[in-house]
Amino acid sequence: MDAEELLAQAKKTLKSSNERFGFKGEEEDQAWELLFHALGGEEPEYEDEIPAGVKRRFDRFIARRATGEPIAYIVGEVEFRDLQLGIKPGMFIPRYTSEFLAHQAIRRLHGRKRPVHVDLATGIGPVALSSAQAVPAAQVWGLDISQKALNQATANAASLGLRNVRFKRSDLFSALSPGLRGKADVVTIHPPYVPRKEVADLPDEIKKFEPGHTLSDGSHDGLGLVRRVVAEGRDWIRPGGWLLIEIVPSEFRTIRPLLRDAGYRDIRSTHGQLRHTRVITGRV
Ligand SMILES: C[S@@+](CC[C@H](N)C(=O)[O-])C[C@H]1O[C@@H](n2cnc3c(N)ncnc32)[C@H](O)[C@@H]1O
Repeated sequence: MDAEELLAQAKKTLKSSNERFGFKGEEEDQAWELLFHALGGEEPEYEDEIPAGVKRRFDRFIARRATGEPIAYIVGEVEFRDLQLGIKPGMFIPRYTSEFLAHQAIRRLHGRKRPVHVDLATGIGPVALSSAQAVPAAQVWGLDISQKALNQATANAASLGLRNVRFKRSDLFSALSPGLRGKADVVTIHPPYVPRKEVADLPDEIKKFEPGHTLSDGSHDGLGLVRRVVAEGRDWIRPGGWLLIEIVPSEFRTIRPLLRDAGYRDIRSTHGQLRHTRVITGRV
């Protein structure tokens, strides 16, 4: 069977599952991407015969995708700011929107002498790895409660050849060396911020596959971790340093007074080209 026939067949299989999962019309791109990965990262040529082994791998990929499984888990990788990051099922999949958080951190780290960046709730490390790569002089810490995600983040750092970033299991700042108190130039967090009762309303592709603790902290308004970060952050951020929180725009009204009451200044809500996430910034 040639690539064109194989893709046409896969498109048909994916069409009905995509309709069910609300990804109508995306089957052509999905089938192409899965064939690209089944071929080991080679662009398919439509008239090429597909070897039996590749076809078997591709069929397995399509069967998994037809259950709604995210493509990142199936192919084992995801792109973030031009970095190829390894990922496995059971880990939060970095979103394109978080590139803006990384950008905001990098902008503030540049020009500081040996700056310290602490990325809380780092997951597989997209934000921490981005700043470690963009600012080689930075000392970067990525912290998370999930050891599984941290193992992947460490593997990602190794495959990118980054030696200025370390990952550690930690409930927010709790396991960070006390020697770093008052030393962080930038603290970032993309927290699990979905209110407890709204998790059930998330699309199946998210709620059936990504672990609950990566989506919600279990609080009624989804801001349990944010409240803690705002309070605890003051001890870890150096004077003039920044706290950057990625969240939905509507939360600014709630978070601004929290930051103000905790003594942060220069409090703003800023967004990139994609308007549906914001980075809330506050300075110590
Ligand atoms: C929305 S994900 C963000 C992951 C990563 N920053 C990204 O953008 O891909 C939230 C992360 O918070 C972590 N997490 C949840 N509770 C935590 C806690 N108390 N302390 C540290 N990390 C936590 C989860 O394991 C998950 O990796």
